[in-house]
Amino acid sequence: MQILRTVGELRTRVRGWKADGRQVGVVPTMGALHEGHMSLVRAAKRGCDRVIVTIFVNPMQFNNPDDLAKYPRTEDHDAAMLAAEGVDLLFAPLPDEVYPKGFASKVSVSGITAPMEGAMRPGHFDGVATVVAKLFGMTQADRAYFGQKDWQQLQVVKRMVADLNLPVEVVGCETIREHDGLAMSSRNVRLDPLSRAQAPALYKVMTRAATALRDGGAPAAVLGQAREDLRLAGFTEVEYIDLRTAAMLDPMEVLDAPARLLAAAWIGGVRLIDNIPV
Ligand code: PAJ
Repeated sequence: MQILRTVGELRTRVRGWKADGRQVGVVPTMGALHEGHMSLVRAAKRGCDRVIVTIFVNPMQFNNPDDLAKYPRTEDHDAAMLAAEGVDLLFAPLPDEVYPKGFASKVSVSGITAPMEGAMRPGHFDGVATVVAKLFGMTQADRAYFGQKDWQQLQVVKRMVADLNLPVEVVGCETIREHDGLAMSSRNVRLDPLSRAQAPALYKVMTRAATALRDGGAPAAVLGQAREDLRLAGFTEVEYIDLRTAAMLDPMEVLDAPARLLAAAWIGGVRLIDNIPV
């Protein structure tokens, strides 16, 4: 596996592949790779002739400097995992390569970025949309793989690709979980043992709420109960637990269309997010 740091080298490599008629897949990540990321890599390997994984801890999408500073960085280990999986190229640029002096553009998706993660993390989705648009431009990928774990992010990327006619197919892949149901996340390593033991309650409470909703429970009452259950399970703050239409992320008062239950909550000083279909 080749590791490249500059856009120039990356484009030369991809140009060669394209000249040979190869289909190129990209898996954008911020590193600290786990089985969730690897499932995207495997989907890309199945669907494409050549696979690029990008590792870039994107400063533009962090609204909290402390979160950026504390974000785990494990590139050597990541590279070994990717090489073992048969990835062709790891693109791991430095911030100056992605945001050179004078950089002045921004991709901003409105509407679906307003609630939930957008409301709690001002500027976050501008940072995500901008860096993902840039990674698509840099890699010229035919297909790009994203996790349903970040459901709102996946919808934002799909919206941007449709709106800007970007020549890339966005593939959404299922959330990979630990055996106890906790969605895998690079931030899980920050959970202390007690919080780690309590954290699977997020998925359990959400699953119970989804069942209650499917059984005809009134959303306001079911979501109120779920908030209460999360507090009892040890979550210190529930930022949101929302029932939304699956693609447009509009609020739902009654369950009358394909829906998604999404939540963000704090435990042991760590912010966890999850979502499931209803
Ligand atoms: P990161 O959090 O590293 O996630 C990279 C990709 O892995 C995302 O598409 C995310 O949804 C997916 N992923 C994470 N955990 C997963 C899990 N448990 N199951 C399935 N997929 C999972 O998301 C980002 O980075 C950044 O915002 C990025 C898109 C790279 C832009 O900077």
